[in-house]
Amino acid sequence: MRRSFVLLLVAAMACKEKGGSTPPAQTTAPAEGGAVIGAALSLTGAAASYGASQRAGLQAGVEDVAPTKIDLRVEDDASTKEQGITVFQKFINRDKVNAIIGPTLSNTASAADPLAQQAGVPVLAISNTAATGITDIGKYIWRDSLTEAQVIPGAFKKAQEKLGFKTAGVLYGNDDVFTKAGYDVMQKALADLKVKVLGTQTFAKPDRDYHAQLTALVGAKPDVLVVSALADNASSIVSQARQLGWTGAILGGNGFNSPAFIKNAGQAADGVMVGTSWNSLSQDPANQKFLASMKKAGVTPDQFTAQAYTGVLILAEAIKQAGGKSGREDIEAGLAKVKDLETPLGKFSFTDSRDAKHEPSVQQVKDGKFQIVQ
Ligand code: ALA
Repeated sequence: MRRSFVLLLVAAMACKEKGGSTPPAQTTAPAEGGAVIGAALSLTGAAASYGASQRAGLQAGVEDVAPTKIDLRVEDDASTKEQGITVFQKFINRDKVNAIIGPTLSNTASAADPLAQQAGVPVLAISNTAATGITDIGKYIWRDSLTEAQVIPGAFKKAQEKLGFKTAGVLYGNDDVFTKAGYDVMQKALADLKVKVLGTQTFAKPDRDYHAQLTALVGAKPDVLVVSALADNASSIVSQARQLGWTGAILGGNGFNSPAFIKNAGQAADGVMVGTSWNSLSQDPANQKFLASMKKAGVTPDQFTAQAYTGVLILAEAIKQAGGKSGREDIEAGLAKVKDLETPLGKFSFTDSRDAKHEPSVQQVKDGKFQIVQ
């Protein structure tokens, strides 16, 4: 029964990917004893590379939390605020979901999450890393993704220990909640490390040519380039910087943590360093189980896959903490009781402000792969 449901879901998704019509929304009550969870993921648009990884993690998570039943409904938020709002309205009013996972981007969350907060539907963000403007929307908004403020200061400190830089050139996207928030954190982290910023430049998500900004930054001869960008922009920025002769180090933010960045940047990605919330080398049983599940699914996991899978583990734990009940208020109360949960991200708890609490790591691209910096 359970297996056939998952197979049906996978078949429906395959149909959607091939350009077939989206299966009609189910308006029936949740399967007995199960929770209906809506997942708003960026399957198209600027953040599509993250959405595919997240969907794979959610699907594996649903399999692995058995016998807890999760009826997962995935919708594409198209990486935009407008579509995020439409998907949230559908989940809240039509599908009558018990909780929502997502949306992928902080930018989308800043517009869609207030709808769930108002309706009293718990939201578990699995990739929103803007330090502010997410969980402070209200008490129904939770996240398992560490913020830029929780990751970047430590990552930059480690990078400075390894690379010994004293000056930086900074480039950031100024039309996105996450890339702008990442820049704010980077600026403070550099100041705290006594790094002098020799130049700051901006771009917008639709931009594809960064030569003007990079020429100005490279011309200032900083020790490192620091970039706050989503993966799509990040790969072009790094490629164009190398074309302009930049051979130095590049430090990124959370947006870089996708194999799509390496794939699109090619050799230019080598040496890029970035903080991450997932230690792929962790020998913890929960991470080993996750890796085995992803292998079985034929998926090479990344940080976004691990955070998505963890999101399902957290919701299943919340339902367990609520005595097996999965109403909206049951899940909300259960989330407050999640503590020291074993996950691929490490032992997971929430902070008092419903943000994630666990150890971050640092990774660097070497030979076309992210490698954990010890
Ligand atoms: N970490 C990115 C964001 O928060 C995906 O938008």
